[in-house]
Order: sequence, then C-alpha cells, then structure tokens
Amino acid sequence: MKGMVFTEFMDMVEEVFSADILEDIIEKSDLPNEGAYTAVGSYDHQEIVRMMSNLSEAVAIPFGTLLEVFGKHLFGRFTERYPAFFEGVSEPFVFLKKIDNYIHVEVIKLYPDAELPRFYHQQKSDKELTMYYLSSRHFEDLAVGLIHGCLAHFNVTGEVTKSEAEYQGQEAIEITIKLF
Ligand code: HEM
Repeated sequence: MKGMVFTEFMDMVEEVFSADILEDIIEKSDLPNEGAYTAVGSYDHQEIVRMMSNLSEAVAIPFGTLLEVFGKHLFGRFTERYPAFFEGVSEPFVFLKKIDNYIHVEVIKLYPDAELPRFYHQQKSDKELTMYYLSSRHFEDLAVGLIHGCLAHFNVTGEVTKSEAEYQGQEAIEITIKLF
C-alpha cells in the first residue's frame, strides 16, 4: 500500500483523536520502520490493518467504522491533492463511474506499484447507482467512507449500503448508493 495512505491515516488519527493516541498505536503495532512512511514508498497493507486494530481497541470504535471515517477523511484530501480529477464534474455518480476506468488508471501511471481494487457499476436510475467492489484486501468499508466523502463534496445526501455478492462468478461486495 502506498505510503500516502499511511501518512493520511496518521494525520487523521492526530486530528480526530490525539497525538498521544497516535504515538501509542505506533508503538503497539510493531512497525518495521517505527512509523516513518514516505508518500511515494510502498508498504505492507497489514501494517495499516494492525494500526487500525490497535486504534479500534484504544478508542472503542469498531474497526469497520474507523475504516469508513478514514475513507471520508481521505476523500477530502484527494479533492485537495488531485483537483484535475474534479474538473468539469458536478455530479457524484459521474465522478464515481470514473474511478475504475480513469482515476485509478491515472493513479497506476503515477504509482506503478499501487494495489487498486476493481469497480464495476450499474446505474439503476438517476438516484441509484450500484458499484461492485472486487479486492483481495477487503477494504470495502474504506470504499463506503470514500463514497460518503464524495456525496458530501458534491453537496448531496443519500444512503450507502453494502452486501456480499458475486460479479461474473467472482467474490464481490455490492455497494448501493441511493440519493435522497
Ligand atoms: C481523486 C480520487 C481518488 C484517487 C486519487 C485515488 C487513489 C488511490 C490510491 C493512491 C490508492 C492506494 C493504492 C495503494 O495503496 O497501493 C487507492 C486505493 C483505493 N481506492 Fe482509490 N482513489 C480515488 C478515489 C476513490 C474512490 C471515490 C473510491 C471509492 C469508491 C476509491 C476506492 C479505493 C479503495 C477501496 C482503495 C484501497 C485498496 C483496495 O481496496 O484494494 N478510490 N486509491
């Protein structure tokens, strides 16, 4: 996993919780580099999973909820770091449908060793989009948080739900977004 995800995670812990909690979870997570990450480096994604588990224990918030909170925070950072992806886009579904065939394609050009999920989508109506998330890392709660961040960015409200599903014979998570 790219170091940028780790540095954003650590910033979020400090901002939302505290510098002491961050220090504590770094210590408990037995990290090979003692918590020093560079944005362009690549690291084992299990290290962020360990930090999340320790954070979950320290603040008594379920792991999945934390991953979702982090996703929402991360989306805000993406809007600042990658403004080009948002140019000319004024609707959340238009943006979400571009992740797999444009945004993540550009990301892999920038960081050839990035490990990205696949998304397939089915637009059911003006107000309903289904996305199928495929990834061995099972970070679907991160995806749900990113989607919440996306709705907030475009100033719309809606409901995001997920369930286990199959997409063309492969294990997938079906994420449904219904705008109010
Ligand atoms: C400007 C928008 C976006 C950018 C620049 C971006 C970029 C990235 C980057 C750099 C990674 C890390 C790759 C690695 O660690 O090796 C990543 C992973 C990921 N992205 Fe995106 N992303 C964007 C939007 C989204 C959105 C809106 C979603 C949600 C539907 C999403 C879902 C994910 C997930 C879930 C992962 C974790 C890897 C996995 O699940 O296997 N991304 N993305």
